[in-house]
Parts: sequence; structure tokens; C-alpha cells
Amino acid sequence: MPSIKVNGKRYEIEIDLQTPLLWYLRDHLGLMGAKYSCGIAECGACTVHVDGEAVLACVTPLEDVVGTSVTTIEGLAGNMADALFDAWTAEDVPQCGYCQPGQIMTASAFLSRNPKPTDAQIDEAMSGVLCRCGTYSAVRNAIHRAARRLQP
Ligand code: FES
Ligand code: FES
Repeated sequence: MPSIKVNGKRYEIEIDLQTPLLWYLRDHLGLMGAKYSCGIAECGACTVHVDGEAVLACVTPLEDVVGTSVTTIEGLAGNMADALFDAWTAEDVPQCGYCQPGQIMTASAFLSRNPKPTDAQIDEAMSGVLCRCGTYSAVRNAIHRAARRLQP
């Protein structure tokens, strides 16, 4: 039986492996943090981590993630997560909130690779996560704030 680890817990996958990861997370595991919006890799609302890399769950079939470790916003933990959550609060980032799990999951994977980013690097890294409420500058400020806190 194919299996997958999600937020540290292993699951046997008993559904069609062509099913998108996002549907599995939301409909089968009840993890509603990753959002469905465009469904065609255009908005980033469904971003999760697969083995630490940001991945668009709406266009990722389960067969591509069998045996991997998936993290959703519900399972994001540790120093990076604490720094991001606190920075998001301090900068008052969320408006309607719909895009925010995707923003934070993308920011987390990005900061792991680039702990001292410039504005331009942040803008490029975050460009795939759309926000109809226009929180882009607040997101950028929050990423800088989290990066400062995470500096050794
Ligand atoms: S819902 Fe996946 S990129 Fe928009
Ligand atoms: S906070 Fe509303 S879509 Fe981003």
C-alpha cells in the first residue's frame, strides 16, 4: 500500500493516485489550511511543503508524493514557523486571510534557502502567491522581520 507522511504522521493512501494532493489533504485528512482557489497553478493558495520544498498541491498528483513527507500550515513548527507567525502578527499582514497559508508556506521554504533576502529576492520568490487584498508590502516586511529574528 502506498503511503505518505503528513505533518509527521504516516498514512496509507487508499484512493486513486491521480487525485491531487490538495484534495487528499482537505477531503480525506480534513486539513483545510491549504486553500483551493484557481486549481491550475496560478495563485499559490494551495502551497504546502514536500520534503521541505514549496509545492502547489492543486496540480500535484498523489503518485508524485508517495513516500515523501508533506507539511501543511497546520504542521509548520519550529524556529522558522515561530518567527514567521510572530512577524505576520507584528506586521498585521492578513486581511481576508484566504491566501495567507500559501504566503507563509512559500515564505518558509524561501527563507530556509535564503536567510538574508533582499526586497527583490522576496518579491520574486513570492510572486507566485496572489493576494487580492494587496498584502504584498506587508508580506515583504514580515519576511524581513522574520529573517532578522532568525539571524544567528
Ligand atoms: S489553487 Fe493551487 S495554485 Fe491556485
Ligand atoms: S489576505 Fe485576502 S487574498 Fe490575501
